[in-house]
Amino acid sequence: MQHIVVLTGAGISAESGLKTFRDSGGLWEGHSIDEVASIEGWYRNREKVLDFYNKRREQASLATPNAAHIAITNLEKKFRVTIITQNVDDLHEKAGSQDVIHLHGLLKEARSENDPDLIIDIGGDPIHVGDLASDGSQLRPNIVWFGEPVPMIEVAANIVLKADIFIVIGTSLAVYPAAGLIHYTKEGIPKYIIDPNFPELTMGDDWTHIREGAAMGMPKLVDELLDN
Ligand code: OAD
Repeated sequence: MQHIVVLTGAGISAESGLKTFRDSGGLWEGHSIDEVASIEGWYRNREKVLDFYNKRREQASLATPNAAHIAITNLEKKFRVTIITQNVDDLHEKAGSQDVIHLHGLLKEARSENDPDLIIDIGGDPIHVGDLASDGSQLRPNIVWFGEPVPMIEVAANIVLKADIFIVIGTSLAVYPAAGLIHYTKEGIPKYIIDPNFPELTMGDDWTHIREGAAMGMPKLVDELLDN
């Protein structure tokens, strides 16, 4: 059975009503990355960081998967599918995907400030200063912030190396090390990128660009792959 690896970014969740980061009106237009999504910002003002993620967690808990998330699950009729996502929503899981690697963490999880392995599921609930983990330390979002390591990046790179087909959906490829994953594919495999505005990178002529929104573009690509 051929193995399809899908790398997703905020763009796949845009049509589920969740803001992207770098589009006009995106999250980084209204917030400073340094203040709300970095380890330094956390030490400077925990309240501000918790508030930013509490709002996003509530929105994500109410969001539903769109046709793109569902189309990916349909691929499992004929292929082994692994999703590597930069997204912190759980829309892939809500759509029914099981093999999902979250490079940047998950909004529905909180963790001990002192022990990254002490993780609890909090659904859409808020975290406040004074909410403690079982080790007595402050609870924080189980999100990878700028300035922190990406624990799953090696696992993800090894999976991309094994891909027989590689699909990138809805990412500006602006953030490393996630963006570097596109360079781990074997020579000559089919590679697709679905994004209405192409990322800055010149992706090279060995990519098929589908210049559409994910909810339109991915179901069409899946039909094509299932028919081949
Ligand atoms: P960006 O906001 O940087 O990029 C979103 C991409 O999705 C852009 O290329 C858009 O053109 C595209 N897009 C927008 N609407 C779309 C749609 N309907 N269908 C398909 N594509 C669409 O988001 P990411 O690349 O995911 O990390 O950002 C990467 C990381 O930067 C995030 O994981 C987050 C952020 O800072 C951390 O916070 C650590």
